[in-house]
Amino acid sequence: MTLQLALIGCGGMGRRHIVGFHKLRGIGRQDIELVAVCDPCRANAELARDRARELLGDAPAIFDSFEAAHRARPDLDAIIVTTPPDLHMSVGVAALEAGVHVMVEKPITLTIRQGRQLIDAATRTGRKLAVAENYRRDPINRLAKALIESGVLGRVFLGVQSSSGSGERVIITPWRHQRRSGGIVVDMGVHYTDLLEFFLGPIDTVMGMSRQVDQQRRDTQGAWHPVDAEDLSVGVARFRNGALANWLLNLAGRGESQFARIFYGTGGTLGIPRDRSGGELSLSLRRDGQDAKLTPEEQLALIPDFALDPTTAALFGADRLASYTLPFAEVDANLLAVELADFADAIAADRAPEVAGLEGLRALAVIYAFLESERTGGAVAIDEFMSGEGSLYFSEIEASPAGH
Ligand SMILES: NC(=O)c1ccc[n+]([C@@H]2O[C@H](COP(=O)([O-])OP(=O)(O)OC[C@H]3O[C@@H](n4cnc5c(N)ncnc54)[C@H](O)[C@@H]3O)[C@@H](O)[C@H]2O)c1
Repeated sequence: MTLQLALIGCGGMGRRHIVGFHKLRGIGRQDIELVAVCDPCRANAELARDRARELLGDAPAIFDSFEAAHRARPDLDAIIVTTPPDLHMSVGVAALEAGVHVMVEKPITLTIRQGRQLIDAATRTGRKLAVAENYRRDPINRLAKALIESGVLGRVFLGVQSSSGSGERVIITPWRHQRRSGGIVVDMGVHYTDLLEFFLGPIDTVMGMSRQVDQQRRDTQGAWHPVDAEDLSVGVARFRNGALANWLLNLAGRGESQFARIFYGTGGTLGIPRDRSGGELSLSLRRDGQDAKLTPEEQLALIPDFALDPTTAALFGADRLASYTLPFAEVDANLLAVELADFADAIAADRAPEVAGLEGLRALAVIYAFLESERTGGAVAIDEFMSGEGSLYFSEIEASPAGH
């Protein structure tokens, strides 16, 4: 059966998903059809339609909303939601209530309460809810996870997630710097909190401090935009398994950008390159008191049973990879193709998608917990914070002006 799919939100990310779609066609998947593109901004919807026509040979119909698309196409099976985050919940719930499966871009929703509403709607209607979290699908992150799980690092006791760059520039769109539509710490940080839990399991507690360094940001045309969301988050986290994490997200960084993701275990240390860079892992194992750095071939030899899933393997050209060299746009499209395939397969097989609502909500809770901790001055327990009630930070969001 062919999955009848609509894209809701035809801005930058919506149009990137069309390229991901094209990649799936390229590896022979013909079981998904893009039948509609929806956006109240007609120009963006037309750009998406034209991109689809060029790449897929299909010309999806244009609508200004999910509701209009569903009225015209009651046979719609599924949607991808690529609107700004403050609209994810309302669009997603409307679709689920109409019996349509939903894959929503990260972050799952703007707030935890909204995330719960979305998850409840999926549970109530029995439809699939997936969160499009692409970074973890990078083949290098898959390899890193397989190495950690194989136990070669011994007991992992510390993770470091640290990055810096982008100072005073608008990062992609001005709404990303407004709390009311999901500030930049949430927008970027949710990828990294998802990855921390992907690698080491659930986070128990976080403590954080944060700041808004830039009060306005300049876009590529030189225009300045007001900012009301944090752009600097520092913190520590404790995982349920006892490991600690050191956290830094500096989106006000001038000068050379910096990135570090490192896991320290009693048996060795694993350094992971920037997501989507294709760079090699840096793995050192301590044997008899001596550190030995492993080549990519030696890394793979440690995990003879490791293999990428068939979709990732087909897109990247091998089922066991320790590095790759591809233009960024190709890597990006491949990862979007992988998450779309997982969503479609989850629907067909009636199984959970890899990143379901709960995983998406946990990643959101952890990133907001870093910001909440600045308000409370204390540690934030994630399981408690997941209720979405009584948060000082969310009260501030609700009082902030709309961002787009
Ligand atoms: N996973 C990633 O790597 C990645 C990268 C970029 C963006 N994103 C996510 O994708 C989402 C969209 O980001 P973007 O950069 O494309 O934003 P964008 O501002 O470029 O596009 C958003 C689009 O949604 C449209 N829209 C607004 N209200 C709508 C509605 N009710 N129905 C349909 N469309 C509506 C807007 O007109 C706009 O065209 C965000 O959640 C963002 O975090 C993810």
